[in-house]
Amino acid sequence: MDVFEAIAKRHSYRGPFKDQPVPRADLQRIVQAGLQAPSGKNAQTTTFVIVDEAELVRKIGSLHASNKAVQQAQALIACIVDTRPEPVHEGHDFQIEDCAAAVENMLLAVTALGYATVWIDGWLRVQDRAEKITNLLGLPAGKVIRVLLPLGVPEETWPRKEKQPFEARAWFNRYG
Ligand SMILES: Cc1cc2nc3c(=O)[nH]c(=O)nc-3n(C[C@H](O)[C@H](O)[C@H](O)COP(=O)(O)O)c2cc1C
Repeated sequence: MDVFEAIAKRHSYRGPFKDQPVPRADLQRIVQAGLQAPSGKNAQTTTFVIVDEAELVRKIGSLHASNKAVQQAQALIACIVDTRPEPVHEGHDFQIEDCAAAVENMLLAVTALGYATVWIDGWLRVQDRAEKITNLLGLPAGKVIRVLLPLGVPEETWPRKEKQPFEARAWFNRYG
C-alpha cells in the first residue's frame, strides 16, 4: 500500500476487534514509524510503551465504558510526553507537535499493515484517566501518557467520516 492509499484508508475505528493477536514484529514496525517522525529541533521527545500483556491490556481497556476498540484491543501503544517539557527553541517546546507527528505516522503504518485503531487523547484528559494509566505502566515521575492507540484486526467495516472538499479549506497564495 503506498502512502496516499494509506492516507485515504485511514480512519478512526471504535468497533470490536477479532480475537487475533498483533505480532510483536508488527508492533515494532508500527512504533518504528513513530520513531521516524519529525520533531522540533530533532529533540525526539515522545517515548512509547507497547502493551501486549493480555492482563494489562484488559485492565487498561476496562477503564473505557463505551469504546469497543479500547475494551477489546489486542495491544495498546501509549505515547508518552513530559509533564513539564524543556524548551528546545527560544523558550518553546514542541512536545505535543512531536507526539502528534509520531501518532500520525503510526496511524498510517497501522492502516498499511491491515490493522485499525483510534487516536485516544481527549478521553485521557478527564477523570484522572491519564494518571491511572501512567501508574499502571510504571512511568517515572515527570512523564505522562498523552495518546493511547488501541490495536487489532477490525471485525466490522466502519463508516469513514466525510472530509470537507479542498476548496473549503485550502487555497493557493491567498486565504479564501
Ligand atoms: C487530538 C485528537 C484527540 C482525539 N481524541 C479522541 C478520543 O479521546 N476518543 C476518540 O474516540 N477519538 C478521538 N480522536 C479521534 C477523532 O474523533 C477522529 O479523528 C475524528 O472524529 C475524525 O475521524 P477520522 O479519524 O475517522 O477521520 C481524537 C483525534 C485527535 C486528532
